[in-house]
Amino acid sequence: MEIVAIMGSPRGGGNTATLVEAVFEGARAEGAVCTRFDPARLHISDCDADRACLESAEAGCILQDDMQQIYAALRRADAWVLATPVYFWHVTAPMKRVIDRLYAFFTEEGGWRLGLEGKRRGGVIVVQADPGGDTPQRVAAYLSQVLGELNVETVGAIAEGGIGDPGDAAARADLLEKAGELGRKLATG
Ligand SMILES: Cc1cc2nc3c(=O)[nH]c(=O)nc-3n(C[C@H](O)[C@H](O)[C@H](O)COP(=O)(O)O)c2cc1C
Repeated sequence: MEIVAIMGSPRGGGNTATLVEAVFEGARAEGAVCTRFDPARLHISDCDADRACLESAEAGCILQDDMQQIYAALRRADAWVLATPVYFWHVTAPMKRVIDRLYAFFTEEGGWRLGLEGKRRGGVIVVQADPGGDTPQRVAAYLSQVLGELNVETVGAIAEGGIGDPGDAAARADLLEKAGELGRKLATG
């Protein structure tokens, strides 16, 4: 059982990372192997829309950068986690860059379809500073939609406002508990 998380904050030890690690703690207690990628610290180019990836289900992305290791890990994993803080009412740029590159999992071979095998479980995490409004929920719904297109079923979401300063998430026992529960759910189905 393997879980891969994409952690979209540039703050490697910030709120989003804290919640991802809490998910992992819950999952590891159930025997899952967990891997986290921080795209802000990797070399990942923008999708250049050359569409070479669409030629066949096996074609893959021709851009030889750190996204190649993320593709391999995502293919291998039984469950995916997409986690991001809200930046200007949406996901961060590093998260969006990874999402756009997921285009390579689709193909036009035999008509437009997903070229990625298998059904997976997924989780989403979204935090923001503003305690009001519904942006975390809207961004979480967006991430669930992305996962759904890739045949990854969202089994749990954390979408929370009022999380702004580093350490805010770590101080919220309820959120850490919820994240641990999500980890256990991802690991056990
Ligand atoms: C560039 C930038 C844009 C942000 N935009 C928003 C926003 O639109 N709404 C909001 O409530 N918080 C916004 N924030 C605050 C972050 O969402 C908040 O600090 C969050 O806890 C950061 O998570 P992290 O610790 O995982 O990096 C923004 C922060 C930055 C640096």
